[in-house]
Amino acid sequence: MAKVKMVINAAHQKSKINKEIYGHFSEHLGRCIYEGIYVGEDSKIPNTRGIRNDVVEALKEIKIPVLRWPGGCFADEYHWKDGIGPKENRKKMINTHWGGVVEDNSFGTHEFMDLCEQLGCEPYIAGNLGSGTVQEMAEWVEYMTFDGVSPMAELRRKNGREKPWKLKYLGIGNENWGCGGNMRPEYYADEYRRYQTYCRNFSGNQLYKVACGPSGADYHWTDKLMQGIGNQAHAISLHNYTLCGNDWSDRRHATGFDESEYYKVVYFAHETEKLLVKHCEVMSKYDPDHKIGLIVDEWGTWYEVEPGTNPGFLYQQNTMRDALVAAIHLDMFNQHSDRVVMANIAQTVNVLQSVLLTEGEKMIKTPTFYVFKMYRGHQDATLVDSFVENKAVGCAGDLQVPSLSQSVSISADGKLMLTISNCSLQEAFDVDVNLIGFDAKGVKEAEILTNAMDAHNTFENPDAVHTEVFSGYTLKDGHMSIQMPCCSIVSITLE
Ligand code: AHR
Repeated sequence: MAKVKMVINAAHQKSKINKEIYGHFSEHLGRCIYEGIYVGEDSKIPNTRGIRNDVVEALKEIKIPVLRWPGGCFADEYHWKDGIGPKENRKKMINTHWGGVVEDNSFGTHEFMDLCEQLGCEPYIAGNLGSGTVQEMAEWVEYMTFDGVSPMAELRRKNGREKPWKLKYLGIGNENWGCGGNMRPEYYADEYRRYQTYCRNFSGNQLYKVACGPSGADYHWTDKLMQGIGNQAHAISLHNYTLCGNDWSDRRHATGFDESEYYKVVYFAHETEKLLVKHCEVMSKYDPDHKIGLIVDEWGTWYEVEPGTNPGFLYQQNTMRDALVAAIHLDMFNQHSDRVVMANIAQTVNVLQSVLLTEGEKMIKTPTFYVFKMYRGHQDATLVDSFVENKAVGCAGDLQVPSLSQSVSISADGKLMLTISNCSLQEAFDVDVNLIGFDAKGVKEAEILTNAMDAHNTFENPDAVHTEVFSGYTLKDGHMSIQMPCCSIVSITLE
């Protein structure tokens, strides 16, 4: 087994890893909201006010901190007043963006806020700038957050909610360079300024306003946006999906891939790092003090849909390869947590890189779910300095990728957490860790997720991939050695 060195310097504490980095995104798309989260009160599937109990329990297990809704591209076509009041009066319409199916608006603001309350997570609302009005967005904020006497507060009370909700995160539009209006950054920045002006802080509620940032490597958008918004935003967003190549046509199947495709996807997962570095550089030109955060509010793998499913539903399986993509991204977000304040994987249930998949009353946890569970100890901890020696791996003649990815944090109660993954399909590594500035008494918890690159859970075999207790380490006199098998992810908590 090849030996590599790792150094952890716990004396060098860096940025706080906001728990919101472990956030999720759910859209009115395919079977995400309807079936995946909301089944209605009359469903035989166990639910609380229409929301699936199994899904809520599973998301609580990974400590979901924040949930973004209602889109995505759906957000800039969504008119929130269609989704309030008695369900029988709510408008039925076509979801023109996703699959052309009927949207009956039975899941609206009250249901979403109920979901967040059941989950104990922060709501993150994406407002409609593309096809809505300033008044509509301003009134939505008033409806949700105003405690006094006003038309919107009265309407909320009439609809059964006396007290306002707390709403922190508000996105002012989604992908306004594309499905959110095909705008130029200069124009969007002006629109952003106008819309956000009227989104008020009511009744002690403090909004955290997010401007629509770039897609992938569009540094021009970031530059013009940052120049245009001045100090009027708390954060800007970034959307980046992991494909099997550089182009949208480079989408392949979620399962049944060969080693070359496996490594390509891992390679493009690592490419996200370049985007973070370069977008942060552009942001620092206008905001050297890091007052404005970067929110990666859509990320994850995007493959061909599963055979026989609606192409507009974006339903895909999830394998060990996706688990590695998740581990690489989460380590990367931790490492850049001085600027990355939130991230939302796309999407929670039944769409793209989901943590859960459902079929009728059945629900399975994907390999990506287990990564979120293994990494939950990083939430709100402080990043510490770490370095690992890396070897490039991959198929001969193809793109090569670093074998190991890692991040380390220290929690408020003094526990040190290390997450490390090995994407190599050929080589196991013996990681020799030099632990500085932390007097390790012992290992509190150690888990591993490992399997074949294509291994996944199905409704017939729901437990094929799952975490196990990890014993492949030794710890003595400040030295730890970790045996990392091929295609594996490990988390170790020291106390
Ligand atoms: O997550 C699917 C879609 O991807 C979202 O609706 C959109 O914002 C992005 O292009």
